[in-house]
Amino acid sequence: MKRKLLGALLSVAMVASLLVGCGSDGGAATTAADSASDAQAETTADTNDDAAAPAEDAGTEAPSDTASAGGKIGISMPTQSLERWNRDGAYLDEQFKAAGFETILTFSDNDSGRQVNDIQNMLADGVDLLIVAAIDGEALNTAMNEAADANVPVIAYDRLILNDAVSYYVSFDNYTVGKLQGEFIVNQLDLANAGDKVYNLEITAGDPADNNAGYFYNGAVDTLKPYIDAGTLNIVSGQQDFDTVATAQWNTDTALERAQNVLSSYYADGTQLDVWLCSNDSTALGVAQAITSDYAGSNSVVITGQDGDEANLKNIVDGVQTMTVYKNVSNESVVTLGLAKAILAGDTVDESLIPSFGIECAFDTESYETSAGNKCPSFLLVPNVITKDNLQDLVDTGLYTMGDDGYLSAN
Ligand code: BGC
Repeated sequence: MKRKLLGALLSVAMVASLLVGCGSDGGAATTAADSASDAQAETTADTNDDAAAPAEDAGTEAPSDTASAGGKIGISMPTQSLERWNRDGAYLDEQFKAAGFETILTFSDNDSGRQVNDIQNMLADGVDLLIVAAIDGEALNTAMNEAADANVPVIAYDRLILNDAVSYYVSFDNYTVGKLQGEFIVNQLDLANAGDKVYNLEITAGDPADNNAGYFYNGAVDTLKPYIDAGTLNIVSGQQDFDTVATAQWNTDTALERAQNVLSSYYADGTQLDVWLCSNDSTALGVAQAITSDYAGSNSVVITGQDGDEANLKNIVDGVQTMTVYKNVSNESVVTLGLAKAILAGDTVDESLIPSFGIECAFDTESYETSAGNKCPSFLLVPNVITKDNLQDLVDTGLYTMGDDGYLSAN
């Protein structure tokens, strides 16, 4: 308790001169007094997401003699039910700890109210910086406003939060993710040389509460639009606009059910389905399952995805899914660590940091806004297309192992 109070006081003192908030100063700099005097390390793995997680309560403190080099970091992840966030949480936690920080890691079970609560607890616990992957980019105002009041910098991680308390954004180039999916479809079906041939397409997009989902959808649909307009791609169900094809919480079963409905309503008569654009792997998994069980045709359907989830990589090996857009989330956490260090050290935050990350990314001050006109300086990493032909690239990252059966498992 004493330590918590001390931590809170230090936090208030150390951030008194911090300039946080997107656009407030183009992202520059903070003068974080070194909180190394807050010498007790705290290790709280509050993996309170679901039954599979160790049921530990928040706030379990494990004092140690290790001085904290940089202070205490709150890491708020959305859920453990979608594969990637387990990896993100683990990488962030490991890397910040290895750099000498204390960490508090929470998963909020895709419940925004719970995420607000988790972040409030972190603030009460005296965190010096927050890293938040939002469940709902518009539902964190209470917690974000409290972070701003406490002058605690916030890094929006992977998903932008629509609140000006956010200092910086680290993600992949989300529009490019969708563009890569669209370009893959164009190349795979050789649409430029299709002549009079018509290919039937369906679309499944992501969670409307996730700010990324619209970028993925737009990147793909903008790329496909000339072919849709020309009639080379035909959306047989007519279901094209984002809200109609969106998938709440990126849920696999929700994607499965909608795909089954589309197949039974529009393809049961033997109409051939050629391609299903899916924004990510959790939705692609549901769509692939529906096609396997409910599609009357025997042609192989092109299915896109994103993430490189294990089940989807297996589907790619088996020819059930055609591609995924891979985002190396270990690299995303390395960039986040580099940025957090710079913020807390009061260094200038701009593209000059990138060489120190050692990871290809762009510093973008134009593409993302936390509110109308309030640009959020962003570090955007580069996504890659993975198909059955370049699975070895994933093995080469050191993050996956290929078994004798040819399937990949995450290390
Ligand atoms: C992430 C994707 C992920 C999706 C569902 C998005 O915000 O950028 O990588 O597939 O959330 O977890």
